Amino acid sequence: MPNPMALDIAVMTLPNQQWNENTGEQDTAAAIAALEQGKILYLPRLPFLLTAQESALLDPALLEPNRKNISYRPDGDRLDGVAVPEQRPAARQLLERYHRSCLALLASLLPAYPAACHSPAGTLRLHQIAEWRARASWRKDDSRLHVDAFPSRPNRGERILRIFTNINPFGISRTWRVGEPFPQLARRFLPRFKRYYPLASWWLNAVGITKTRRSRYDHLMLQLHDAMKSDPDYQRDGPQRTMDFPPGSTWICFSDQTPHAAMGGQFLLEQTFLLPVAAMRNPGLAPLNVLQSLVRAPLI
Ligand code: SIN
Ligand code: FE
Repeated sequence: MPNPMALDIAVMTLPNQQWNENTGEQDTAAAIAALEQGKILYLPRLPFLLTAQESALLDPALLEPNRKNISYRPDGDRLDGVAVPEQRPAARQLLERYHRSCLALLASLLPAYPAACHSPAGTLRLHQIAEWRARASWRKDDSRLHVDAFPSRPNRGERILRIFTNINPFGISRTWRVGEPFPQLARRFLPRFKRYYPLASWWLNAVGITKTRRSRYDHLMLQLHDAMKSDPDYQRDGPQRTMDFPPGSTWICFSDQTPHAAMGGQFLLEQTFLLPVAAMRNPGLAPLNVLQSLVRAPLI
């Protein structure tokens, strides 16, 4: 790899073996500081154990055609993507249980967050990465380094907090590439961005392409996502390191901040929460505030 990043810039490893483990105040402060700097919190000994019924869900044939994953929104009890009706109860149970475990993990490891976290959404990812990536357009190809930005759901600066657990039963790791710190990334790509047209974002909302109006922040984050993915030189030569997450491990990151790319593996649980910037220990590290200080203008 031409431009390797040091492990301690990318990751903080934690010993937790329980989803509700009692974590001391010093350790929670260190974890929150690392996470807000854009590091991945890596918990190599925190598995999520499946019941026999849930294990039967580990089959891509369960997905509706052309779906990337099975998704579950606890608010409103909304389950999508299951092609086999008899498997819906097991899928709901699994994603509901995972959501509850993730809330317990936040309460023990990042206790400042749960009260402010909202809009939980979970996914069960069944595709083999190599097979899925062969079918995806460049914009949807998550094996290219990127930061997350939702095209149809503007989040107006709110943070995308994600928890992942590898549940592969055959010993296969989830392999990621992880990229450079956000301020460095933003400075690199900002000069390339196209102008923001408020009228265009009003129109996207009016015709229903976006669920709310895209702010200037959302515009910049989508530009960043696309500029990263469409730049082969950056993909090859940008600062990065490869990380293997074996089965039985869990990891947490702010995926709107930490550049990441899924390179291999199959069978993953993922839980998303949105977090207002004001709920962070250090709001200055949020992409919103980093970008605002670079462009010297309010973005929402
Ligand atoms: C992504 O969030 O870009 C993909 C992560 C994964 O599925 O491993
Ligand atoms: Fe992503």
